Amino acid sequence: MANTILVTGGAGYIGSHACLELLQAGYQVVVVDNLANSKLESLKRVQEITGKSLAFYQVDIRDHDALADVFAKESINAVIHFAGLKAVGESCEQPQMYYHNNVYGTLVLTQVMAESNVKQLVFSSSATVYGAAEQVQYTEDLPIGAINPYGRTKAMVEDILRDLSASDSLKPSQSPWKIAVLRYFNPIGAHESGRIGEDPNGIPNNLMPYVTQVAIGKLAQLSVFGDDYPTPDGTGIRDYIHVVDLVKGHIKAIEALQSEKFADGGCKAYNLGAGKGCSVLEIINTFEKVTGRKVNYKMAPRRAGDLAEYFADPALALRELNWKVEKNLEDMAADTWNWQVNNPQGYN
Ligand code: NAD
Ligand code: WQD
Repeated sequence: MANTILVTGGAGYIGSHACLELLQAGYQVVVVDNLANSKLESLKRVQEITGKSLAFYQVDIRDHDALADVFAKESINAVIHFAGLKAVGESCEQPQMYYHNNVYGTLVLTQVMAESNVKQLVFSSSATVYGAAEQVQYTEDLPIGAINPYGRTKAMVEDILRDLSASDSLKPSQSPWKIAVLRYFNPIGAHESGRIGEDPNGIPNNLMPYVTQVAIGKLAQLSVFGDDYPTPDGTGIRDYIHVVDLVKGHIKAIEALQSEKFADGGCKAYNLGAGKGCSVLEIINTFEKVTGRKVNYKMAPRRAGDLAEYFADPALALRELNWKVEKNLEDMAADTWNWQVNNPQGYN
């Protein structure tokens, strides 16, 4: 019998890679995306690469009736919920837009899911929900303490999902919610075909797209934000994860939700990261080694809101989802570059 996954935000960077892996793993895929930060071209290419088709609906997840129509037309088994706005700086400037899109959007989605009796959900959360912690290797039991509006939308949605799951005990006659909250560390890279990848609007905020645009000559110089952190080379340390490894974690989460492990329902959070930190200078050096290109950079002051160092403890995902990363930093650099040189203007 078909196992059909509704992917919200499926035309976006991570969502398009998830659609590709889902199709290749034999799932049926239905995408809902309002194309606020993506292009349909990504899904056209996903279908070309896989030789399989998916259903696409240009719908905003906040539109209850349009979303309910999708659930009425398609026979959905589970939802992977990527749709959301994700720029930290923009969320500080326009917090209402972020709360409306990310929090209200998820309320509408879960309402329609409940009305349609679809109760398996994988949610895109972020390591940003941890805020500043004493330890640099984050375990899932650390307190939540997001420090910007974007992060708070993720923390709020997590609370909503935990409350939803907890409410099951008061309604024993209903089927329970089965929810996996996936906290991503720093996703980078692209599919090895070089045909889908990250296509940021305007000047990128994140390190890897900035590095590639400097290497290809679209941007003049990278600013390394801070060389005086208490880290071995003074630059900030993060846990970079290849986007293909990341989306495979979602398939493992779906498998877990549909297995005996979640027979009684529940809402559980998992870190998705490599489990090791890497500095900004290590990223630049690896990128230069793998691509043979120079990255013009200068040292600059710290960026407000940045932490010196954090990375994932991914042991829980290994234990309970049977997932771990398979790709290394060289793969991430090579695949990002392959995408960049083949698509200098992104999907345009
Ligand atoms: P993206 O912007 O490329 O993809 C998000 C997609 O959601 C876009 O296609 C956009 O058009 C769509 N969308 C936004 N609001 C919508 C709405 N109201 N209705 C329908 N569609 C809507 O971003 P991404 O990098 O692929 O991120 C996917 C998810 O993962 C987001 O929820 C993001 O917060 C989360 N996340 C991303 C990162 C990262 O570094 N990229 C890290 C942690 C978590
Ligand atoms: C990585 C490192 C910077 C740009 C962000 C969000 C987080 C999550 C992932 C969604 C840091 C340094 C960066 C540059 C630099 N997204 N840097 N020069 O800040 O770890 O996380 O994306 O959930 O919520 O906050 O990622 O790629 O911006 O930065 O030196 O031009 O690179 O200081 O040390 P970050 P990033």
